[in-house]
Amino acid sequence: MLDDNLTIFGIKKDINEGKQGEVLFYEHPENQSKKFYIESYGCAMNFSDSEIVASILGDIGYAPTKDMESADVILVNTCSIREKAEENIRQRLTVFNIQKRKRPDLLIGVLGCMAERLKAKLLEQEKLVDIVVGPDAYRDLPNLLAKAEDGDKSINVLLSREETYADISPLRLDSNGILAYISIMRGCDNMCSFCVVPMTRGRERSRDTYSILAEAQDLFDRGFREVTLLGQNVDSYKWSSPDQSEHVNFAELLERVGLINPDLRVRFSTSHPKDITDDVLFVIKKYENICNYIHLPIQSGNSRILKLMNRTYDREWYMDRVKAIRRIIPDCAISSDIISGFCSETEEDHQDTLSIIEWANFSMSYMYSYSERPGTPAAKKLKDDVPEEEKKRRLIEIVAKQRYIGMLHNLADVGKSFKVLIEGDSKKSKLEFRGRNSQNKMINFPKSDGFKPGNYAIVQVTSSTGGTLKGHIIKD
Ligand code: SAH
Ligand code: SF4
Ligand code: F3S
Repeated sequence: MLDDNLTIFGIKKDINEGKQGEVLFYEHPENQSKKFYIESYGCAMNFSDSEIVASILGDIGYAPTKDMESADVILVNTCSIREKAEENIRQRLTVFNIQKRKRPDLLIGVLGCMAERLKAKLLEQEKLVDIVVGPDAYRDLPNLLAKAEDGDKSINVLLSREETYADISPLRLDSNGILAYISIMRGCDNMCSFCVVPMTRGRERSRDTYSILAEAQDLFDRGFREVTLLGQNVDSYKWSSPDQSEHVNFAELLERVGLINPDLRVRFSTSHPKDITDDVLFVIKKYENICNYIHLPIQSGNSRILKLMNRTYDREWYMDRVKAIRRIIPDCAISSDIISGFCSETEEDHQDTLSIIEWANFSMSYMYSYSERPGTPAAKKLKDDVPEEEKKRRLIEIVAKQRYIGMLHNLADVGKSFKVLIEGDSKKSKLEFRGRNSQNKMINFPKSDGFKPGNYAIVQVTSSTGGTLKGHIIKD
């Protein structure tokens, strides 16, 4: 689950498993005397924002460090999506405060969605937090740091209708030099009743198309081979040039990024079922480098619950979108987000969610039990009346069903060959590479002379065990 993953820059850690990945590539700006340490939680947008923060700090002489003990400032980029996400962050603040007791000059800053949600309360409740900065106020960080250095508590949680950080070139923190995120929009104008994001991220706004194209081109020129275009609802991307002579929607943006180079893979996330158009599907079909993979969160398979969630589509609409994907891009993988135990959900409603997982043949899903968030429309108007144990029981059933469908999805790949972008060593063996196919599935395969990370290889899948695909390179 997304918010259980944390990145201590350069080192990807899974809290549940306690595993550490390796740093293959890291940008080292020069002439920097002070050091910052940053941890990021939550969705990809937050990870992408941390790279913007790193760039802003780099400009005022701060270099990143992965050693908390040597940092002058510790930052945590936070998530509020579920209560547990905030609990995790409170625990991390306790750990940082142990450092602060040893070194009173150390500054601790809370960034991101929890900063926006709790605002000054964070300074009051967590006494040892010095700086609180919301997602639209990162340009103010140099000023806020200076204030905090003078001993004042500093806070900026103003949300903006314009800020897209379009001109800031992100400092790639946790990168193998092959994959990168590009934010194409910020905020969200939907009002899904369970969701805190419109409150923490503000109104939706799209970034200048040309700054996106320039960033993607620059990444390609520097050797990156895959970009993921990020937004809470990418299908509603809409940018107009200042003189209103040009209007770009998501299908057009996707095509223009796809045209940068056939060797630059393009992915995107997240698609909203109400907004994804056939035009987008035809663009995916037309370009081999635009990946055949769509993350299309359903949330619930029951139309009454979807209405209460204010998702503005019903089960039939979702099924129609899936049918369109299957018709236009037959080998496209679809993944989802699912919430169990939303307000008033009955056993029959839950069965509808289980059946849609099977019907839609999701390759994978992120699955959660409903967590009421203060201030959201659901918290104000609906009763969180499904008992916690029942939410958990339903979640376990959803996870088991998805695991089974995912396993069948993987088994269907055995014998097939895929073009794979090599990302690095497999997690288990230095003798093997790992890479993903267009459908976003990871495949491990023995290394072979002449291939290195960043190259493409044709890999035939030979087995699928425990959720892992294995294969071997096919040479022409
Ligand atoms: N913009 C994306 C979702 C971003 S939040 C979309 O609309 O699909 C990521 C996921 O967290 C959501 O899809 C939802 O499944 C889950 N989520 C959001 N709020 C939640 C809550 N209050 N309780 C449990 N899960 C939640
Ligand atoms: Fe939240 Fe809905 Fe916006 Fe996604 S589309 S971020 S779930 S309000
Ligand atoms: Fe979390 Fe904010 Fe993303 S609440 S999921 S970090 S937009």
